[in-house]
Amino acid sequence: MYLGRTTLSKFLIQQLEGIEGASDLGALLVDVAAAVKAISAMTAKGALSGVLGALESRNVQGERQTRLDVMANDEMLRSCEWGGLLAGMASEELEEPYAIPGEFARGKFLLVFDPLDGSSNADVNVSVGTIFSVLRHDQAHCPRTGDYLQPGRQQAAAGYAIYGPATMLVITVGKGTHGFTLDREIGNFILTHQDLTIPADSSEFAINTSNARFWEPPVHRYVTECQTGKSGERGRDFNMRWIASMVAEVHRILIRGGVFMYPKDTKDPRKPGRLRLLYEANPISLLVEQAGGRASTGRQRLLDVVPESLHQRVPVILGSRQEVERIERYHGEYDCGTDRPFISPLFNERSLFRPESRA
Ligand code: AHG
Ligand code: MN
Ligand code: MN
Repeated sequence: MYLGRTTLSKFLIQQLEGIEGASDLGALLVDVAAAVKAISAMTAKGALSGVLGALESRNVQGERQTRLDVMANDEMLRSCEWGGLLAGMASEELEEPYAIPGEFARGKFLLVFDPLDGSSNADVNVSVGTIFSVLRHDQAHCPRTGDYLQPGRQQAAAGYAIYGPATMLVITVGKGTHGFTLDREIGNFILTHQDLTIPADSSEFAINTSNARFWEPPVHRYVTECQTGKSGERGRDFNMRWIASMVAEVHRILIRGGVFMYPKDTKDPRKPGRLRLLYEANPISLLVEQAGGRASTGRQRLLDVVPESLHQRVPVILGSRQEVERIERYHGEYDCGTDRPFISPLFNERSLFRPESRA
């Protein structure tokens, strides 16, 4: 039963052939996988190990940290700082980039991560995850914040772990998106989902509808059409899901298609979206594109967005290609006004031709 199974390490040796810095990148991904195994064990113990609950502390975004946020963050730092593979790290839970301690050698990659995605789900025993992005850093100097501000298309590798009924690691090095399942008895990630492919079309959408009053018209237009289903423009019924953990939503989309949206809204004018560009939107967008899907702000390919700051937020619309293209088209039509029927000035509000004016 175990003969001939492809482990993560074996797969990486094959996949990374011909890629610059292959052996270091492979070793780094194995270190990330080690952290993921530890975080998986922590989350699986739940209330038995006293790791649930919130702390008094808040992260740079002003969000209350959970115990697991902090523990998962420490696990990523400890597991990846020592190997001489990284020049630095940045995390959702750290205001500034993390400098590799002087006792360790400095490598040629930067690691950016969300140690625990969907952490509000941990206390209610619903799936959470870890998201990570690997960037190149060839300069001799210790990385400054600006070195992390690379557009997502430059990522050397990206991935996430999902801690669900099974723990899985889903990665890309720019040669397709591949899923590994943790065999807990042996402690190895085994290749179970090679070349994940998102169906181009789908009838499932995910959005937090409690924000509906803050959405832009093109998002309203799309969601209303989905809700109207068979009796409307789309001519078929749609299903809806909201797990409040992007990793879990994206995993579903990689397996059976669909659309995930955390779009631009007016809830807080200082924030152009809810999700963070560098360690949420970018790695997930690379995985989605490598699986044949599409990832957009609604107005621009997400992987082309040039970051301006470490914890920058961005609108996110991703998943099945044709659905995302439709939502992008709705944004375009809204921006140039072609989604509204033309009203001649003769018949507008103040016109002599309004029925009541003629009476
Ligand atoms: P995090 O736990 O890392 O802060 O991320 C949670 C994110 C994302 O995973 C999810 O899609 C979204 O926030 C949930 O937001 P709502 O609470 O608005 O549903
Ligand atoms: Mn997150
Ligand atoms: Mn998080």
